[in-house]
Amino acid sequence: MTRQALRAGLVGLGAMGRNHARVLAGLDGVELIGAVDPAGDPSGSLHGAPVLEGLAQLLALRPDYVVVACPTAHHEEVGLQLAANGVCALIEKPLAHSVAAAERLVDAFEARGLVAGVGHIERFNPALQQLRARLEAGELGEVYQVVTRRQGPFPHRIADVGVVKDLATHDIDLTSWITGRSYASLSARTLSKSGRPHEDMVAVVGELDDGTMVSHLVNWLSPLKERFTAVTGERGCFVADTLTADLSFHANGAVTTEWEALRAFRGVAEGDMIRYAFPKREPLAVEHERFRDAVVGEDSGIVTAREGLRTVRVSTAVLESARLGLVLPGHAGADGFDGTGASGASGAMADWEAWDPEAEARAVGLGGRHDGAADAEDPVP
Ligand SMILES: NC(=O)c1ccc[n+]([C@@H]2O[C@H](COP(=O)([O-])OP(=O)(O)OC[C@H]3O[C@@H](n4cnc5c(N)ncnc54)[C@H](O)[C@@H]3O)[C@@H](O)[C@H]2O)c1
Repeated sequence: MTRQALRAGLVGLGAMGRNHARVLAGLDGVELIGAVDPAGDPSGSLHGAPVLEGLAQLLALRPDYVVVACPTAHHEEVGLQLAANGVCALIEKPLAHSVAAAERLVDAFEARGLVAGVGHIERFNPALQQLRARLEAGELGEVYQVVTRRQGPFPHRIADVGVVKDLATHDIDLTSWITGRSYASLSARTLSKSGRPHEDMVAVVGELDDGTMVSHLVNWLSPLKERFTAVTGERGCFVADTLTADLSFHANGAVTTEWEALRAFRGVAEGDMIRYAFPKREPLAVEHERFRDAVVGEDSGIVTAREGLRTVRVSTAVLESARLGLVLPGHAGADGFDGTGASGASGAMADWEAWDPEAEARAVGLGGRHDGAADAEDPVP
């Protein structure tokens, strides 16, 4: 029996929203019924769907689910209205501007048994999907280190959050996802060069709960655009470029030496390099197919709102670490940074929102260091 098409709506018709509209309009089993944007032309239409003035008008059309692509500072208010009306939602990343807002969203959708996903699109990049499958298959042996770099030019349109919540959340999510591990501790430094209240550059060094070391360099102050992930382990190094969706493997070469004195430390030598060939589908199309299938009850592998909350927690820890100049211990346990376990010098931190950074600073003997990133925590005026 053929299924009735799902009725999908869209909130936000900016740079990302227009891409969602294009994909929704061509998605099998889905009808785009309307899009909302206060700056949109109410007399206009988008791929045949009406452009509406407000969310109430979209809700009146009885959507099965809505894609939320308005600025991050508005995700919470829009998402809570959708949940209250029994509508599933695919919310753009990051899930929300603060941990408390992200928690309220998770609670609202979970309490009503509604499907809620987050647009961490890197998970659907073919290079990272290949990388994850190869790590799971044990091709690298023990994983030592994950390094990401995400640099590029300044996005004038993003003004409600800084680069940590806007871009580094991609790196945090993908690192947890490809390794299957949680962040155990991290230290970060930020810079604010654009004159806006939020940071535009961040360097993070951290450790996952299995001891894997990570580093993330993320900024929007570079004319060089790069989306780089390298995972180094026992047998070599995988390098993924998510701009081109390429994945290569640099194998450790066999080190041959007859010199007995050198046998104790053989080090690593350059070996073969392989660039894999695999089908490359558009990540946004795959993200939408998965979400559509989840709405009809399939276990399709979406990024859940709860996973999105975890990423907001880690990104908040990044900002706090930069603000205080401290290494922040996370929590033991599967979710990391989730308040389930004890932390190190600071004692248990049950909730990043409730946590008092000044008390943390006093506890470790620092007066607390405030810099330009201090206000980046809560961008909502
Ligand atoms: N997954 C990704 O790779 C990716 C890429 C870019 C942006 N994003 C996310 O998508 C969201 C939007 O980013 P963007 O780059 O499209 O921003 P944008 O500024 O280009 O567009 C935002 C649009 O939302 C509209 N808007 C503002 N308030 C609204 C409201 N209350 N209801 C409906 N529409 C409203 C604005 O008029 C604007 O047209 C952000 O959360 C961002 O983090 C994700």
